[in-house]
Amino acid sequence: MVRENKKYFPIFETQQDLVYLDSAASALRPKAVIDKEKEYYEEYPVNIHRGVYRLAERAGEEYEFARKKLAEFIKAKIPEEIVWTRNATEAINLAAGTWGEKYVKNGDEIALTIMEHHANLVPWQQLAIRKGAKLKYLDINEEGKPEMNQKNWNKWISKKTKIAAITQASNVLGTINDVKAMIQLIKQINPRVKVLVDGAQAVPRMKVDVDDMGADFYAATGHKMYGPNGVGWLWARKELLEEMPPYQTGGGMIEEVKKYQTIFAGLPDKFEAGTVNIPGVLGLGAAVKFLNGLGMTNIRKHEIEINRYALKRLKEIRGLKVLGSGEPEERTGIYSFWVDGVHPHDLAQILSGENIAVRAGHHCAQPLHDRLGLVATTRASIGVYTSRADVDKLINGIDKAIKLLRG
Ligand SMILES: Cc1ncc(COP(=O)(O)O)c(C=O)c1O
Repeated sequence: MVRENKKYFPIFETQQDLVYLDSAASALRPKAVIDKEKEYYEEYPVNIHRGVYRLAERAGEEYEFARKKLAEFIKAKIPEEIVWTRNATEAINLAAGTWGEKYVKNGDEIALTIMEHHANLVPWQQLAIRKGAKLKYLDINEEGKPEMNQKNWNKWISKKTKIAAITQASNVLGTINDVKAMIQLIKQINPRVKVLVDGAQAVPRMKVDVDDMGADFYAATGHKMYGPNGVGWLWARKELLEEMPPYQTGGGMIEEVKKYQTIFAGLPDKFEAGTVNIPGVLGLGAAVKFLNGLGMTNIRKHEIEINRYALKRLKEIRGLKVLGSGEPEERTGIYSFWVDGVHPHDLAQILSGENIAVRAGHHCAQPLHDRLGLVATTRASIGVYTSRADVDKLINGIDKAIKLLRG
């Protein structure tokens, strides 16, 4: 299955020995996604919604078709519950800047976990500063999982909590949060809390059912789910989107404009001001089709298989510690690690010399690294194209780096 999957990605035609282990930052793009964007530019490169001519109609239909496909993929009740954004960061800013701005008041509380990516932390932190609200963080245990005991939770969620923002899959620890159970617990303590789930790392790796998990908002990003850059999305329950004010105003999001007042358009146009990223959305639709074609069950199976092998091999290296759970079934294929006596950046540099792409740093999760007492880690993250041979090359590369750096 794995070798077969490489064939969908044109980059491997020109770079056969590339070992790409930075999929948590951006996944590689399959030909189907590239072709869909090309199709738009070659066949109907025009604006949507405003034209009645055939090309504009085609572009508009393709744009809404992608929304419908994504809605089916994440089990949204209706496509209008999906708002296209630039990325997950903008999706979360949209929620914080509209719902948050309207409902969070002085003295309220906002609940986050310590493992959040900055994208799901800074917008809430800044909202809290603006509003005089209090941020509360849920800690993690030794295995990198959120502390699930009732005592901690009663401290974390209170009658004052307005919103909880939690990730479904950590971009550092490999942890998969049982968001359904977490949302149930949150709402048991305070049924009025709204929950935003950051699905940026989960959507490309596992089946997602936004309705069943009980979320109110769900944010993700195109480039991590094998889709284009510059496109992401926010899903939210219709009732919430309806009561939220617009995020940006201007063309495309109005019903009627008078000199001194405006009637805004309905969903989802109300949140999509200006000319939108049409080829990006179309490419994202193609990415959904690609993921459906491989099958999310198969994708997850492959990930667990690589986890089993990679965790075993990484363990063989003396002085190397992988963060998060050691159980292949419990985690994603995102392995952040450090090696005694080896600086993460030096390691990444030496691996780069072997054409192995990994990332070193805090991975936009500084409070998490602070909590762990680490300045930086090296992160290897897999995709649907990753093979055991790629893992072997990583292990050999790390061995080589250790010899060089430890002397
Ligand atoms: C868990 C998580 N959330 C959000 C983001 C932000 O994604 P984007 O930069 O596409 O907005 C990332 C990106 O690394 C992420 O890993």
